[in-house]
Amino acid sequence: MGIWTVEKLETKLIGYRRHLHAHPELSGEEHETTKTIRKWLRDDGIRLADYPLKTGVVAEIGGLRGGPVIAIRADIDALPVQEETELPFASQSPGIMHACGHDVHTAILLGAAQLLKERESELEGTVRLLFQPNEEKAKGAGQVIQSGALEGVSAVFGLHNKPDLPVGTIGIKAGPLMAAADGFAIHVEGRGSHAAVPEASIDAIVASAHIITALQSVVSRNVSSLDSAVVSVTKLNSGTAWNVIADKADLEGTLRTFREDVRAKVRQRFEQVVTGVGAALGALSSVRWISGPPAVVNDPLWAERSIRTARSLGLTVVEPAPSPAGEDFAFYLEKTPGIFFFLGTAGPEEWHHPKFDADEAALPIGASFFAALAVDAIAALKEEREGGAIRARSARSVGETVAGGGWGDA
Ligand code: NI
Repeated sequence: MGIWTVEKLETKLIGYRRHLHAHPELSGEEHETTKTIRKWLRDDGIRLADYPLKTGVVAEIGGLRGGPVIAIRADIDALPVQEETELPFASQSPGIMHACGHDVHTAILLGAAQLLKERESELEGTVRLLFQPNEEKAKGAGQVIQSGALEGVSAVFGLHNKPDLPVGTIGIKAGPLMAAADGFAIHVEGRGSHAAVPEASIDAIVASAHIITALQSVVSRNVSSLDSAVVSVTKLNSGTAWNVIADKADLEGTLRTFREDVRAKVRQRFEQVVTGVGAALGALSSVRWISGPPAVVNDPLWAERSIRTARSLGLTVVEPAPSPAGEDFAFYLEKTPGIFFFLGTAGPEEWHHPKFDADEAALPIGASFFAALAVDAIAALKEEREGGAIRARSARSVGETVAGGGWGDA
């Protein structure tokens, strides 16, 4: 499938994207977005699948002759950001903006759906389209999995726009691509007093200051220079008046890691520092973790296959630097192999910026790559199964037992 076949789609995809951009909805509240996507899919004759989701849409193409099931996913939610782009199709909802480009992702998946629909009779498997809600709160992937929409899926694919990559470039990387994103809340309990009588107090602000400073040593002294981690304290609430020593403090922030062993070690050292340093200053301090998605870890075989597909479309493939941002696509990859890749969108600003935008020329490229990836993935899975069946037959002929491979419809 060449890019040229989708050029006629470009106008339509730009229309989809601009409509979505003008009408953004926050995570978990994507009711109108859901209705709109369902309508567009129905208008194009695409089969909606019935999974119990409050928001978000699942649809299917193919499967007329059985075969493997693969899934492609786009996230559909927006952010609580006041848009500052001055685009003619800027957000009509004050304080809400598609500042991460999920409008772009949704339009791309709709485009892929149309391309695959044109070839439905040739498809030797099923493509399940996941229009996932609630990504920014890292809850939507779990909701989709819980709905059963990942059951029977042999490979899963997702993308994120990448403002710093040029249009026509795909970023594919085997292994960790995006970070595990944990949140933390620290509570420091001291004792208040008159500001002029500090000896009667356990100063929660002084204890917090020491804790924050000591936390800076966790990454620099406990993580190998060959690995990486980020600890950021982003919020500190304490005190009530200029002449009162604060009795308590609440701190918040985030931890980002790319490997589970590093994640576990940093969390352990972090807790020791918080409780130990707090105790040294007489305060009682504790940590509460808000566990986010694990790292996005791409399957090496699917990465290799995807690179081949991208090159077959004449796209430039680069190996991107991992991003310390989190992405709940990680939950799918924990259950099903696949890849999450970056699509070059040559934007003026990074994700979550009030002037975020994307070059719309990337829309048909993303759609054609998604569609080609789906077709190639089904072919690869079919080949794998047939290869497995041949191996099983020849093994049986020499009296061996071989565990069945494939996707279970054999
Ligand atoms: Ni995003």
